[in-house]
Amino acid sequence: MAKAIVAKNVVKRYITRVRKGLVRSVKKIIEALRGVSFEVRHGEVVGLLGPNGAGKTTAVKIIATLLLPDDGEVYVEGFDVVREANEVRKRIGLLLSVEKGFYGKLTGRENLEYFGALYGIPRSVLRRRIDELMKLLELDKLGASSRLYEEYSLGMKARLGLARALLKDPPILLLDEPTLGLDPPSARKIRSVVKELARNGKAVLYTTHNMFEAEIVCDRILLINRGKIVAEGSPEELKSKIPQMRTVVVYVRGFNPNDVERVAELVGVKPSLGIDEEGFAMLKFQVRKPEEVLNDIVKGIAKLGCEIARLRIEEPTLEDVFLYFASR
Ligand SMILES: Nc1ncnc2c1ncn2[C@@H]1O[C@H](COP(=O)(O)OP(=O)(O)OP(=O)(O)O)[C@@H](O)[C@H]1O
Ligand SMILES: [Mg+2]
Repeated sequence: MAKAIVAKNVVKRYITRVRKGLVRSVKKIIEALRGVSFEVRHGEVVGLLGPNGAGKTTAVKIIATLLLPDDGEVYVEGFDVVREANEVRKRIGLLLSVEKGFYGKLTGRENLEYFGALYGIPRSVLRRRIDELMKLLELDKLGASSRLYEEYSLGMKARLGLARALLKDPPILLLDEPTLGLDPPSARKIRSVVKELARNGKAVLYTTHNMFEAEIVCDRILLINRGKIVAEGSPEELKSKIPQMRTVVVYVRGFNPNDVERVAELVGVKPSLGIDEEGFAMLKFQVRKPEEVLNDIVKGIAKLGCEIARLRIEEPTLEDVFLYFASR
């Protein structure tokens, strides 16, 4: 079977006008994607992770045939998004973070019936499918069948958006920040449904700027910054790519802030100093091998006449990874 999504050297520029003074404006070219290549296979959730303006939504819209690329190629199950857009549309379910396009005066179920009819799904199939999806996303429990869309909470809107993306039971899902602004129960529900769908064979492209979320949802992550993919791999692989490995955090009672240099001499690594909520000094040592410094830390603090209240070793987070690659 052809790969779910293949993007090769995709370039997208927006041409806008920027105001200069009251009447004058000048043309400006924004390079939203500057040669982006990646693949998504069936059965995996791939995260497109990057800050605001990185190009995530632009990439999703190009794959969804809503925008034309200026250069490069994109294939969805082997079909070209430019020349075979209709074949592509049959295969994708799309959830955009902002534009939802639901009807406020219809209930959630009526909205789904409307879109299902628009997609050409036969009535009998559609009814069953909607029942299934309402159950899967727990929309029925929340009263989505009887309440108007305009009265929905954000969490219900997001669930309904995912239900609509799944109506055609497409093999490929494009989800643009599906949990943006949601409370933890709704976000958790969406994440668990997405993971389950991938386990059952769907290909999912999932954009987010939430590192925590990317780590728990995605099998593989593409870090995107200013229109370029700056790193790629599983969360574990990405974390192992950054040189600064672990942080030893030591909470100290009675620490004199002027003693930081002394600690640095005694341990051989200069810590950063903070204060935690309970008023303990918090010394953070960034090291490759914590086991090589622990002894010196404990002895050094004792030498200063202070007491260690707690000690913790932190693994690098995706946030560290992102900051590392974004700054290069
Ligand atoms: N219609 C448009 N016209 C002009 N510039 C645009 C347009 N849409 C996006 N851009 C610009 O293109 C760049 C990429 O935007 P995009 O929306 O793809 O980023 P994003 O990663 O989705 O960001 P966010 O996290 O804020 O959703 C940004 O600089 C943005 O300002
Ligand atoms: Mg976006």
